[in-house]
Amino acid sequence: MSAHRPSALDCFRTSPFLSSKHTTYFPVYDRLFGPYRDRPITFVEIGVLSGGSLFMWRQFFGPAARIIGIDLNPDAVRWREHGFEIHIGSQSDPAFWQTFLNDIGPIDILLDDGGHRFEQQIMTCECVIPGIRDGGLLVVEDTHTSYLPEYGGPGPVSFISYAKQIADGINHRFSGLRDKYPFEPAIWSIRFFESLVAFEIDRTLTTQPSRPCRNQGTPVAARDFRDRDPSIVTAGQIISAFRY
Ligand SMILES: C[S@@+](CC[C@H](N)C(=O)[O-])C[C@H]1O[C@@H](n2cnc3c(N)ncnc32)[C@H](O)[C@@H]1O
Repeated sequence: MSAHRPSALDCFRTSPFLSSKHTTYFPVYDRLFGPYRDRPITFVEIGVLSGGSLFMWRQFFGPAARIIGIDLNPDAVRWREHGFEIHIGSQSDPAFWQTFLNDIGPIDILLDDGGHRFEQQIMTCECVIPGIRDGGLLVVEDTHTSYLPEYGGPGPVSFISYAKQIADGINHRFSGLRDKYPFEPAIWSIRFFESLVAFEIDRTLTTQPSRPCRNQGTPVAARDFRDRDPSIVTAGQIISAFRY
């Protein structure tokens, strides 16, 4: 984290306008967004409401960052006079995203704090990932809504089930699995936090060849005992060891 910039929690506390977040989000912001501070990045947040988070991000990232807010509510344009770029539209609308991405250029970080329904979260990921630069992040907030009936969950389709499918796609980049499942071409990694999912975008790293490799170290006579584990249990038995 930058030595001379306050933590995300301090930026939140000192923002001059209201913002509502969850207490568990601030360490995640520090951890994920810290490396982008004091750089000329493009940061986009879906969900402006009372404007407080725009000020929080400006203080967190510093004056070199471009801070962009998106909201469905046209009143959000009031924050333009404070130096923020505000775009009005719906995160569920692919046509909005097309125009938006053409207008603003490549994004370094997109944070989804919008409508919080899984349909909106999934549509956002599908539309926005092509606009995120390699080395950039897409972070979706309030992913606990996948489990809440008032947000349409839990069910066979949810944002979390979508993210788990992407985890399958990431693992199918492995050379021996590529023809068995659609492999994921843009998301290099996924991190699951409580109520947050972060996707790290890097199309260069996702296309690096996956093949076995060895160093030049001296081989010694060592037998691989992987097939001789005397304690291994069956798939059926292992279920009883799960914590859930
Ligand atoms: C949780 S509030 C944002 C809070 C703000 N980021 C903060 O920290 O205080 C959610 C905002 O998302 C907006 N919103 C809801 N559905 C949306 C959609 N489909 N597209 C864009 N914005 C949406 C709402 O108008 C509201 O202002």
